[in-house]
Amino acid sequence: MRVADSWLDALTARSYEMLLGHFWLPAMRVFVVNDPAWVERILVKEPHRYPKHRFMHEALEPLIGSSPFTTNGAVWQRQRRMLDQAFGAARLNLVLPLMQAACADMVQRMQILPSPTALDVDAVMTHVTADIVYRTIFSEPLTAEEADTLFGAFVRYQNLSQKATVLKLCRLPPMWFNRSREREARVIRDFLASKVRQRFADRTREDEQQAADILAGLRLAVDPEDGTTLSEIEVLDQICMLFLAGHETSASALSWCLYLLGESPALQERLRAEAFANPDDLKSMERVSAMFREVLRLYPPVGYFPREAMEDQEIRGTKVRKGDALLVFPWLMHRHRRWWTNPDAFDPERFGPQRSKAPLRGTYLPFSLGARACIGAAFAMQEAALILSQLLLHFDFASIPEHRPRVVGRLTVRSDKGIRVLLKRR
Ligand code: HEM
Repeated sequence: MRVADSWLDALTARSYEMLLGHFWLPAMRVFVVNDPAWVERILVKEPHRYPKHRFMHEALEPLIGSSPFTTNGAVWQRQRRMLDQAFGAARLNLVLPLMQAACADMVQRMQILPSPTALDVDAVMTHVTADIVYRTIFSEPLTAEEADTLFGAFVRYQNLSQKATVLKLCRLPPMWFNRSREREARVIRDFLASKVRQRFADRTREDEQQAADILAGLRLAVDPEDGTTLSEIEVLDQICMLFLAGHETSASALSWCLYLLGESPALQERLRAEAFANPDDLKSMERVSAMFREVLRLYPPVGYFPREAMEDQEIRGTKVRKGDALLVFPWLMHRHRRWWTNPDAFDPERFGPQRSKAPLRGTYLPFSLGARACIGAAFAMQEAALILSQLLLHFDFASIPEHRPRVVGRLTVRSDKGIRVLLKRR
């Protein structure tokens, strides 16, 4: 049950040195693949032979229904074709003003707080990232009350879902966890469903031609293979998935960023100087991006990717059977003793303009690799540069010695009791 609270508790010192590990659960044999050549094979060269594992679908289905984060084969291909069109419609330069408006609102909310104040970083980062993706989907802002409700429901969902999954893998009855997590999922889905329903009622498909948001893109998307469009329930599943995949991950990484910035006033100064030099040119903020990439290395929001072996085979001399689970594990790859010098140290220079070499292929994969890589990677990088630079321009951050966050592995990599840093207005 300790592992049910955080999968990090299942790892040992050897996990960070081995190339292939395994453990047997009552319901499943699981292999951990830390060999970059095999990671490339599973994710990039032969992804059809290693589809997403069904337990991922079971863990997320109450929330995201049938959508590309967990589906496979022809169903995934169709959903991805539709999503690519909708996401294309919300191109980065189109969504930039929406991101900027959400960011300005965040700064305004923070400026009226007493200075200094112990800031609940997770709540603030979740609010702004949820607001950004929400504006991109619906072209309207998310209120503080709505953000709080969704955040609370999702934190509870993560805890319950992880416990339900571990019990299932141990062939134990789900107790009350399944029912409780469904209740939390309903809070989120009902909220998004009401917005989608309203839009279907208020606007025809023709009206959507005028809109430039993701919801309009999904309604207008036509499958080039068979000419079909998405039904209301299919649109809702995609929206739920995008809303969650699009904010929970970014919020996790940005919260760790603020914690690490609080630990290093000198780093804040260096990044601030870059943000001051050209506040509107996010692409020129190489140091800010390097810091974000290093945080994605140390705290990859998606800690592991479960895949399923489609046939019997041998991996590094070990027999793997059809149906076995293979875990590609960014958390381990990013801190692996063989692939990184000083792997546990926080060092943004690894990704800075002066870096001497790029990471070895297959050893750095916060957004995954290959056909199933994150559709929102560029969106997330733009959003992070904007949020971090704006925060640095307006505030100083300092760590609070008595508050050291303990990292836990759940659906995303989070801190067990949240992250707090001291915020001072500049
Ligand atoms: C720092 C932020 C983010 C991180 C670290 C991240 C990470 C990932 C990872 C690792 C996967 C693959 C998971 C797997 O293979 O099991 C993924 C998939 C996905 N992500 Fe992200 N993501 C981020 C932000 C976003 C954003 C902003 C969006 C959309 C607005 C998004 C949408 C998606 C979608 C749709 C998929 C499924 C792609 C497919 O399988 O076709 N993500 N993400």
